[in-house]
Order: sequence, then structure tokens, then C-alpha cells
Amino acid sequence: MMYDSIFARSFNKHEQRRLKYGAFVSFFLLFLSLCTIFKPYLGPIHDLNLRLSVGDGVKMRMVSDTTSSPKMAKAEEDMSTKILVNDTSSSHIQTVPVTNKEEPSLICTSEAKTDFCESQGDIRVQGSSSTVYIVSPETSTLSENMPKIIKPYARKTDTFAMSMVREWSVKPLKDSSKQKVLECSQNHTVPAILFSTGGYVGNHFHEFTDIFIPLFLTSRKFNGEVKFLVTNYRAWWLYKYQVPLKKLSNYEFIDINKDDQVHCFPSVTVGLKRYQKELSFDTSIYSYSMKDFRDFLRSSYSLKRDKAIRLRDGQSRKPRLMIITRKSTRSFTNPDEIVKMAKGLGFEVITMEGSGSLSRFAEIVNSCDVLMGVHGAGLTNIVFLPENAVFIQIVPYGGVDWLAKQDFGLPSEEMNLKYLLYNIKLEESTLIQQYPPDHKILKDPSSIQDWFEFKSVYLDKQSVKLDIDRFRPTLQKALELLHQ
Ligand SMILES: *[C@@H]1O[C@H](CO)[C@@H](O)[C@H](O)[C@H]1NC(C)=O
Ligand SMILES: *[C@@H]1O[C@H](CO)[C@@H](O)[C@H](O)[C@H]1NC(C)=O
Repeated sequence: MMYDSIFARSFNKHEQRRLKYGAFVSFFLLFLSLCTIFKPYLGPIHDLNLRLSVGDGVKMRMVSDTTSSPKMAKAEEDMSTKILVNDTSSSHIQTVPVTNKEEPSLICTSEAKTDFCESQGDIRVQGSSSTVYIVSPETSTLSENMPKIIKPYARKTDTFAMSMVREWSVKPLKDSSKQKVLECSQNHTVPAILFSTGGYVGNHFHEFTDIFIPLFLTSRKFNGEVKFLVTNYRAWWLYKYQVPLKKLSNYEFIDINKDDQVHCFPSVTVGLKRYQKELSFDTSIYSYSMKDFRDFLRSSYSLKRDKAIRLRDGQSRKPRLMIITRKSTRSFTNPDEIVKMAKGLGFEVITMEGSGSLSRFAEIVNSCDVLMGVHGAGLTNIVFLPENAVFIQIVPYGGVDWLAKQDFGLPSEEMNLKYLLYNIKLEESTLIQQYPPDHKILKDPSSIQDWFEFKSVYLDKQSVKLDIDRFRPTLQKALELLHQ
């Protein structure tokens, strides 16, 4: 049914009327629209298949706009093209580039965790009113569309996160007198992507799963020829991720709410695409995979290692273990004991907190073969581990398992890491010092149903005193895995 609604949105009424001219035409229109609308999302193989089968019976002509530069024309073709049908003959189908100002388009897509709108034509972005206008000729039926309200942050079901995200409206602009008021103060020749650095920015995990990966997914296809319009602009965040962001966009980031200018673009995407699961890719929806993302990170940060150490190859160096420590909550109370035991097993040990310069972190994590830490945002750094590395997630007391699995367990498998889970026992939790033994928080964690209460106790008040003897076999298992 999602496909149906996308079809409905992607054809304006005029085209829908034309659609009724015959089943044959309709069939090809639908088929071709699949081809074009989903083109950016399909892998090269799907794309080829569709194109080949279309090519069998239909003569397809690409009409390119000679006024735009070859680069521009290419970028636009890649994004999406509008399909027009010659009314009198179904055998001539033209694919017209969207630079044609007569045919602006707006496709809004609603997915489980995100809403985004892709607009093409004469697009005017006014930061002061948080509005994206699609200039439409009087005759265009696009202007009958209602304005779309978008919060360009990819976690739409989380009302708390979304309360920290600026709202944008995307709407057609018909009245030609208004166009004068909205005269372009800056003309841009490349497409733009508008997103927010609000929401849960500040949490490393959310920065990846809600913004960075979605931004990668949305912008990678432009190969740098795209401008980033940032709402809820946080300079430090853009600075933190500057190395990979500069690979995604060749241009300065624009703090879009800062000025009262009108920025004009040939195409603007408001909001980001994302997959439903955390830190995950789903190649059945879009063509990018976790491997693409990790390759991208590795090349952005010039990371040297793509494979972890293989001990049976008779390596001269010791396997390297990174222990992610945390300062306030879910910290280890006996880090020295853990380090000592790990060294005893033959590891070279590095301890780091899960924050700081991303470039430095990327490099150090990439040099490690095993990464361990208590469930928390710092574990997001497993994205920098080489393949076949071992990841040990230590799960605090109180039924945090599902969170551990969803946030890092499943994603780590997608990263080709070897995943080990260590659930602590109540005796290893500092909660026993805070509550009497028969308190429901210790006796029956499942009775705490409210998320905020759950979080305030099991995630925020708990630290871990690892039972060295109980944990040792997990590290031994990690060594064993490095022999494979
Ligand atoms: C539409 O098809 C007719 C008949 O094949 C042809 O004469 C006409 O030039 C076509 N129009 C366009 C705009 O391609
Ligand atoms: C932007 O382009 C429009 C249309 O070509 C033109 O009228 C306008 O002066 C341009 N604005 C700037 C600031 O270059």
C-alpha cells in the first residue's frame, strides 16, 4: 500500500487524467514511474533489469536541457525525471528533465521513522519563515496540494526528540505577485538537502542513527554535488562530523534559519531517508548497505585496517582490546582489575571514554581487534572496527537486553563483527548498594513499565563492578574467535 500512495503522490492530476486513456498506456506509465521514482533507491542490477525490459517494446527518448551544464543535467537525471506521454500515440514516451519550469514536482514520502519531501523545479527556501516554496505556474495542478509540514529529523515517532526540531512547511507558490517578494537572493545550481541538527544531538548513538546515517543515505548519490541546509544549526556538530560530511557535500553548510535571504535551488529534499532499525541498512528499500557506509567511513578517515588480526597467522603483535569506559553512569567501578586480567590473557589494552574527537577515535578504534563496554552510546564507535573484530557488549542489570540487542547487537552482526553478550548478575550491579534486597527494582525489574522510570534507574543510576572470574571466559572466547 505504500507503493500505491507513492504513485498517487508522484502523479499530478493532469497526468492521472492521461493515465485513464488506456490500460496499455497506464501499464507503461506505472512501469516507467517505478523505474524513475525508485531509480535512486534501486541497486544497479534492479535498475538495469527494469530498463532493459522497458527498452524491449518502447522507444524511449531522453530530452536534455541544453541550457544547463552537463554536470547539472546529469545530477538531475540521476535524481528523478518526469514522464510525459504523447496523447496520440503510446509508442512515443518522452522523459523530460525537471529543469523544465513548467513541470515542478513534489513527492512526499512517509515511512515508519521519517517523513521527507523531494521537490524539483524552481524551489525557493526562506529560512525566516521556515518554508520551502515550489513555484508553480497558474495552470499547474500541483498548487492544489495542501502544504506539507515536515520536521526534518529522522525519528518522527519520538515526541520528545521531535519537540527539539524546527517545523518546516513545504508548499506550492502560485501567485506570481508573491514570487516578486520571494525574489531569489541567492541562486544555487546544485540540489539541496534540508535537515535538522536538533533532536537528540549530543548523544553519539542518536547522532549516527538519526542524522549521520540518514544523511549518508539521502546525500551519497549526489557524489558531493549537493548543499546542506541545516536547521537547528549546531556548528559544533558539523565540526565534529566535518571529515565525512565534507565527502558528502563539496559546499559550505548553510545555517538556513539565520538570515532573511531566499535561497533558490533546482531541487530540494526536506527531511532525511532512514531505515527503520537502528544503525542498520536494509537494501530492499534503498541500495546502500552497511558495507557501503563502513567503506565510506574508512575512506573518509583514511583508516588503514579492514580486517582484524588473525592469531593463527602467527602475528608478531598482541591482539588489541579497547575498553570503552564511561564517566558518570554505567561506568566500570573496577577498571584496573579488568585491564590487569585482560593483559594477563595476552591483550594490549587501551581504555577510552566514548567521546572526544571523532577522527582520533576512528583511528584508535580501527587499530583494535576487540572492543568491549557497557551498553551505551560510546559503543556506536564499533562502526570503525575492522571486519571480523570482536564486540563485547556488557548489559546492565534490569532487562536492558532488548535495548542492547536492538541498538548494537543486531547492527554489529550487519557490520561483520563477532558479537559476544555479557549479562551482568545483580551482584555485579551497584544498584544493590542503593536499594534494599527485597525492593521491586532488584526483585522484579519487569514491574517497571514506565520508560522514564526504567531509564532513570537501570540506565542512569547503575554502574558495573565486573566479576573478573565470571567475565574471564568471555575474553577468552574473544581470543578464540580471533583465531578463526
Ligand atoms: C505525438 O504523436 C504524433 C503521432 O505519432 C506525432 O505526429 C506528434 O508529433 C507527437 N507529438 C509530440 C509532442 O511528440
Ligand atoms: C537569480 O536568478 C533569477 C532568474 O534567473 C534572476 O532574476 C535573479 O536576479 C538572480 N539573483 C541573483 C542574486 O543572482
